[in-house]
Amino acid sequence: MEIQAFAKLNLTLDVLGKRPDGYHDLRMVMQSITLCDTLTLTPNQGQGLRVSTDLHFLPTGEKNLAAIAARRFWEALGCPAEDLDICIRKRIPVCAGMAGGSTDAAAVLRALNQRAGSPLTPAELARVGEQVGSDVPYCVLGGTALAEGRGERLTPLPALPRCWVVVCKPEFAISTPELFARIDSVRLRCRPDTDGLLSALEEGDLGGAARRMYNVFEDVLPPRQRDRVGELKNALIQAGALGANMSGTGPTAFGLFDCPEAAEEARAVLAENCRDIFLCQTV
Ligand code: C5P
Repeated sequence: MEIQAFAKLNLTLDVLGKRPDGYHDLRMVMQSITLCDTLTLTPNQGQGLRVSTDLHFLPTGEKNLAAIAARRFWEALGCPAEDLDICIRKRIPVCAGMAGGSTDAAAVLRALNQRAGSPLTPAELARVGEQVGSDVPYCVLGGTALAEGRGERLTPLPALPRCWVVVCKPEFAISTPELFARIDSVRLRCRPDTDGLLSALEEGDLGGAARRMYNVFEDVLPPRQRDRVGELKNALIQAGALGANMSGTGPTAFGLFDCPEAAEEARAVLAENCRDIFLCQTV
């Protein structure tokens, strides 16, 4: 089986507080985009569960989230593990705030469930995903959604109106646990207007949604990294984006455009000072 695993962007990200279990309560509007990894699942003859990728520094075998997802799926069904090769062609930048590892895991869950004749409902499959990572339940469902709690409480939302997305991944990576630790030690000065963004989605108002995008993690980035993300966001707005935001714990910045020509022009301008740049659409 060959399957696509779509990247996600945060239209908003708010951290409401730290929980006794060490995780944080979040409130965020998520959106999947056409930027994707491609996974190939092939049964093998007695070689066990194997994972390989085209990026040499990523974990292979049982340490990869895709393998953990496969194990959890078979456990949930109460069936023995299969001999399976999972081969991942990475296109989504790594440690970039776009749920690259989580979406690969979610794609494995969807593919195995489909191949088994869909014994689990999407909600049950999302619950299996919760054991793999906080973003996996959302990645199982995809589309436009509000994610709350650890990220596992999902409410599907009206789709973001048709638009084009320019995604820029700066040259550094961010450690998610480190940024969560930083956010505990600061008082947040600014919060996203999540309810306003939800109303804009209800009304099909792309400009209203784009203007309300905000991510609290941008404020706790180390200064040089915050400056770089700010510079990319400004460049996107200068190039005609209706709004720009950072995704997840960063550092990816993106802008929303209501016309493909403006988006392509912005991509070309930003490509001059950002190597990892993509023009995509929402899914
Ligand atoms: O669930 P996942 O393993 O993807 O989370 C990675 C890290 O992100 C956690 O170890 C934790 O530090 C942080 N996290 C959090 N609260 C969440 C989600 C993630 O503190 N809701």
